[in-house]
Amino acid sequence: MSTFVVVGLQYGDEGKGKITDVLSAKSDYVVRYQGGDNAGHTVYVGDEKFVLHLLPSGVLQCPGKCFIANGVVVNPKSFIKEINQIESKGLKTDHVFISRRAHVIMPYHILMDTYREEEKGGTEIGTTKKGIGPCYEDKIARVGIRMIDLLNPEILREKLEKNLKVKNAIFSKYFEKPTLDIDEIYEEFLAIGQQLKDRIVDTEVELNEAIQQGKNVLFEGAQALMLDIDFGTYPFVTSSSPSTGGVCAGAGVPPTALQNLIGVSKAYTTRVGNGPFPSELHDELGEHIRKVGHEFGATTGRPRRTGWLDLVSLKHACMINGINNLVITKLDVLTGITPLKVVTHYKTEDGKIIDYFTSSTHKLYHYEPIYEELEGWTEDITKVRSYEELPENAKKYIQFIENYLGINVYLVSVGPERSQNIIRKELF
Ligand code: GDP
Ligand code: IMO
Ligand code: MG
Repeated sequence: MSTFVVVGLQYGDEGKGKITDVLSAKSDYVVRYQGGDNAGHTVYVGDEKFVLHLLPSGVLQCPGKCFIANGVVVNPKSFIKEINQIESKGLKTDHVFISRRAHVIMPYHILMDTYREEEKGGTEIGTTKKGIGPCYEDKIARVGIRMIDLLNPEILREKLEKNLKVKNAIFSKYFEKPTLDIDEIYEEFLAIGQQLKDRIVDTEVELNEAIQQGKNVLFEGAQALMLDIDFGTYPFVTSSSPSTGGVCAGAGVPPTALQNLIGVSKAYTTRVGNGPFPSELHDELGEHIRKVGHEFGATTGRPRRTGWLDLVSLKHACMINGINNLVITKLDVLTGITPLKVVTHYKTEDGKIIDYFTSSTHKLYHYEPIYEELEGWTEDITKVRSYEELPENAKKYIQFIENYLGINVYLVSVGPERSQNIIRKELF
């Protein structure tokens, strides 16, 4: 048994795609288990840039199979678009499959997401407007359309009729927007089902067999723990469980099967979308980090908010995920900044000093972060490949994180390229 889970520990965009791509070279399976095309995972291969939204980042060099498992919400049009993009660059995609159980993002989910966000005018979550939340709502309400339904004309028609009755009433009466035509959607999604039929399979049995046979199975998380529906900054979260725990329900594998739990964090923090961010920088330094780190959303193009590394939230994320291997990315972006600050505690509204994350999201806006200052470095580290060669202060920064969290950093990323990694121990 050799399983690996890569998850984000912050607010997304930690560089999970790059790490998954690197690990996928030795993986027999790479599996997405939650979220949908709200994700944006960037992988650089030489001068070529790939941004994967729905396909596992393993698609580029995994010698085995790539699965989009049952827990993912699938926009099949995005799937086809991405497959075409990858194929147009000369890469194969016949190793990519979707679970029959995965729920389908329908046009009404996207509209519902969009209208709701528009309606809130300033208090919106700042979603990607990809229909993620509304699709998961229908799944939980047991009215969702699954990939397997696209292959059955009667069931698809029946489910569409029931759904559109309700959705069209909300669109016309509540949002005062146009209604949707059932025939158009029915024909389109029936055709999509036929186009994808050879890729729609049962993924859980094969995955469990692979795990039993000791194959390398890599689960790729999208989003991150601070966007987790339960443990993130609710309601400013996504609608799934991007934690390691999410793998079990999202791919149909038992908790006992999960071994290497890899948590990815940037050397600082970013957030795209709304919600509290105690260590956010609103000054020139924040702008500098955004510029040097190219901090613009891979899915929506929005500028990412930037700030110092928050060890209190990172500890919370490591605890919920049970992380046993840490990855720190974008250390190169901090070059030239001194002093560096990291959050070690918060001061609450009533003056209490705490080092744990709160469930009261609204209070977090009023918490004052307490920082530890560390000296920076000026040397270019983008070409460093061994930990020993890092500047002393960069090592001290990494050690400070390790000591605070009590977890070893096994990989430090010093640039967007596949090769720009300092690997301290090979996981497999
Ligand atoms: P993901 O959603 O977690 O896969 O992350 P994104 O791809 O959305 O955002 C991470 C961005 O940082 C991408 O543009 C990566 O190419 C880039 N990146 C990843 N690791 C590093 C690194 O160590 N240094 C620098 N400078 N960029 C990196
Ligand atoms: P990756 O996988 C960063 C954010 C949105 C919004 C909130 C809810 O690239 O790390 P949603 O559309 O999911 O209902 O939006 O979650 N969000 C992300 N932020 N990276 C992502 O994915 C994200 N996926 C969703 O900006 O704040
Ligand atoms: Mg991203």
